[in-house]
Amino acid sequence: MNIEFLGQSCFLIKAGPHSLLTDPFLTGNPLAAKKPEEVHPTHILVSHAHNDHLGDTKAIAKANGAKVYSTFDICQSLQAEGISFEGGNIGGKIPADFGSVKLVPAIHSSGVPGGIACGFVINIAGKNIYFAGDTALFGDMALLAKENIDIALLPIGDYFTMGPEDAAEAVRLIKPKHVIPMHYNTFPPITQDPQQFKKLVESKTDAKVTILDPGDGASF
Ligand code: NI
Ligand code: MN
Repeated sequence: MNIEFLGQSCFLIKAGPHSLLTDPFLTGNPLAAKKPEEVHPTHILVSHAHNDHLGDTKAIAKANGAKVYSTFDICQSLQAEGISFEGGNIGGKIPADFGSVKLVPAIHSSGVPGGIACGFVINIAGKNIYFAGDTALFGDMALLAKENIDIALLPIGDYFTMGPEDAAEAVRLIKPKHVIPMHYNTFPPITQDPQQFKKLVESKTDAKVTILDPGDGASF
């Protein structure tokens, strides 16, 4: 399985015939590694409707016939556009041809009236990936330790989400094998040094931190 970072919270997770794109904010992202027309996912996962997450979802879904996984509230806005989707809700595991997607809590606003933001536990190619979306640190992240997370994708930007210290505490609670930081340096308020985050995490937990610049990928 390969995970490519495209900037902000956008990753392309590839395993066999499946390619999962998370929070595809490419248009208007100064650090985006690709243009929307350069990505060809089979599935798109959207954590919430802020523009730096929902982003190019509709255009990419339509161009590729990709199925969107998100909350029911966000998926309702896709229905009229003829986009195929699975609109679940927090706590629910949705079976998929690649494995499954479970919607898990995130503490953040949603960008949709009455909606809530979520994170995902993705089961693909025998691995469990936690994609946190935008979130604060919260104590119930400790429950994710039971999901045997192989790779945690965590925001470290601060200001809109947890910052490096809180994200390091999240790693202590979640106990993943690997961590990839996201949601930093795209805009001035979320400027962070990922190397400092790596040092912090690797000094207080057993997790290994992989820093990906936009356009870089790693195999797991
Ligand atoms: Ni947000
Ligand atoms: Mn965001």
